[in-house]
Amino acid sequence: MATSDKPVLLVIGAGAGIGGHVAARFAREGYHAVLARRSDEEGLQRLVAEIEEAGGSATGTLLNASEDGTIEELVEHTEHDVGPIHCALYNLGAQIGNRALHDTPHRTFELGWRLGCFGLFRLAHAAFPAMVGRGHGTLLVTSATAAVRGNEGQHSHAAAMAGRRMLCQTLNAEFAPQGIHVAHVVVDGSVDAPDTLGKLLGDRFEAYKASKGEDGVIDPAALAETYWHLAQQPRNAWTHELDLRPWTDTPWWNDIPIGAIDTGTSDSRGPRSK
Ligand SMILES: NC(=O)c1ccc[n+]([C@@H]2O[C@H](COP(=O)([O-])OP(=O)(O)OC[C@H]3O[C@@H](n4cnc5c(N)ncnc54)[C@H](OP(=O)(O)O)[C@@H]3O)[C@@H](O)[C@H]2O)c1
Repeated sequence: MATSDKPVLLVIGAGAGIGGHVAARFAREGYHAVLARRSDEEGLQRLVAEIEEAGGSATGTLLNASEDGTIEELVEHTEHDVGPIHCALYNLGAQIGNRALHDTPHRTFELGWRLGCFGLFRLAHAAFPAMVGRGHGTLLVTSATAAVRGNEGQHSHAAAMAGRRMLCQTLNAEFAPQGIHVAHVVVDGSVDAPDTLGKLLGDRFEAYKASKGEDGVIDPAALAETYWHLAQQPRNAWTHELDLRPWTDTPWWNDIPIGAIDTGTSDSRGPRSK
């Protein structure tokens, strides 16, 4: 029996960066946000409390999305015990930093695929039948530069994220005519995300952000505005893919840093591992 009469946003991968900010943005508009993350109970409850303190509605759960059955159980529980999932956000990354081929064991590659690609397939498998039955639903998919460009050291990440991109296109081909909107968001720059990039960089995180200059790192609250907009689009004008980056960052299709051509100081390697 559903406990919420609000539309539900389900976030798989809800940390203090994009996941948590998108949850807060939707909750502000009257959604009940269901937040799921892997390990940080305290961080999870903090995000839920922040949403509630702002007048919104949210619940949280811990799950390891790489384990079979976890996403499926969460979808079933949410549909039956919370309310109909109007929108799902698949926000799990698979970035492990740059690793040479022989520093990328089979298991690492497979785990990247499980999080980057297979988990999205499982979410669609679990959530779409009810959405199709209702005739509408939205699946927002956070992605990365590696979805559109392979870079040195990104064997696992790029393969997983490019697969994710093609999966989004394939899902769209089958499900757009059934009322389901799938939007693949290429985040082509660094995000102020303490639970992911922050942990990857450790005590270099603050210096890294400072080195990018003013507005040189994506603010997840700003990004959340785009996610909200995507979920509001009328079906006669759906966006299926878009990319975003800070104003000073090098676009994914060009690995020559901005300004390098004019000054002749090109370091043609550019920020390859975004
Ligand atoms: N951060 C960046 O600079 C950046 C750049 C480009 C693209 N992206 C994309 O942005 C998305 C992530 O957003 P974000 O970086 O802002 O992170 P975020 O929303 O702050 O946090 C993502 C959360 O995913 C959770 N997670 C990781 N593995 C999981 C698993 N196996 N099962 C369940 N939850 C798991 C983590 O939970 P715990 O903390 O509890 O382990 C983490 O807090 C990814 O799709 C990534 O590709 C990020």
